[in-house]
Amino acid sequence: MDKILVTGGLGFIGSHTVVELQNEGFEVVIIDDLSNSSIKVLDGITSITGKAPIFEKMDLKDKSLVEAFFKKHNDVKGVIHFAASKAVGESVKEPLLYYENNISTLVYLLKELKKLPEASFIFSSSCTVYGQADELPITESAPVKQAESPYGNTKQIGEEIISDTCKVTPNLKAIALRYFNPVGAHESAKIGELPIGVPQNLVPFITQTGIGLREELSVFGDDYPTPDGTCIRDYIHVVDLAKAHVVALKRLLENKNTSNYETFNLGTGKGSSVLEVVQSFERVSGKKLNYKIVGRREGDIISAYADTNKANKELGWKAQLTLDDAMRSAWKWEQVVRDTN
Ligand code: UD1
Repeated sequence: MDKILVTGGLGFIGSHTVVELQNEGFEVVIIDDLSNSSIKVLDGITSITGKAPIFEKMDLKDKSLVEAFFKKHNDVKGVIHFAASKAVGESVKEPLLYYENNISTLVYLLKELKKLPEASFIFSSSCTVYGQADELPITESAPVKQAESPYGNTKQIGEEIISDTCKVTPNLKAIALRYFNPVGAHESAKIGELPIGVPQNLVPFITQTGIGLREELSVFGDDYPTPDGTCIRDYIHVVDLAKAHVVALKRLLENKNTSNYETFNLGTGKGSSVLEVVQSFERVSGKKLNYKIVGRREGDIISAYADTNKANKELGWKAQLTLDDAMRSAWKWEQVVRDTN
């Protein structure tokens, strides 16, 4: 079975993707530097799939280590590249850290992939590349807007680097997957999201408030031009998202791609407001959530949700799970994590 390298494979989306890859019979090698993940995730994955992935603790910023890795694993057929820094606020304060972590590592990987007879590459991109889109739902042909943060910029630049490289490298095929808002956890509650410190994202903040770790959720603004005044996002279950990676990888491995660089939106196609997410949590947990309305968060866009037609038609992939499924699994995971740590 094909050997696949998953960088950042112990992270939130990475770990769920490793499970789906193993379920489909792929041999998985994980590289992770454990900077924003725990080695315990490896046990979680192994316990779900019954098979331990190969794991190499490695900093991809060390070019010589990347070279050595590909000398050792010269039979790698594909790479799914999750390893990256992702905190928007931190990226504004430490731009060079973000350019180094997210861009130099990508360049080193691509340089090695160029040397292989054939390679398939899947890149973690984000709907952040669209900014506040002029039209909703957002299609892949919507213009890429000026990035609001160095983090967002690394996704845009990353896409350009891959696209430029693919143009002149016939043995390299790539897909950039533009995620909307990934949430939820594996139904087994053996893997899930593990934010370090105070969560910046909505769903982990909600579940941590539900369990009593945070006093209350601040809802950032209820005066937006939306039906209930709160911002709208497309929350996609991480397991659906993980499955999309396997489908995208297979498209490349089986030469079903129409060009050697493609982009796909990964979302549900349905927008939900912040208050609808709160209501979903209350519905599935049976708990009332403490929250208050506060001022808007700087840089927030009003509304973003995906047009999923391209992924539906060309990848044959569609999100199956609902927001309630995601909130139920995130809540179960939160309870398990607090019990075991
Ligand atoms: C954020 C990032 C985005 C990144 C994505 C990764 C910002 C401005 N954007 O997206 O670049 O790709 O995470 O997951 O940081 N909310 C609250 N209270 C909270 C937290 C969030 O009301 O405590 C609201 C936000 O205003 C927003 C929604 O919940 O309307 C979702 O927020 P979040 O989970 O941070 O995701 P994004 O802002 O979409």
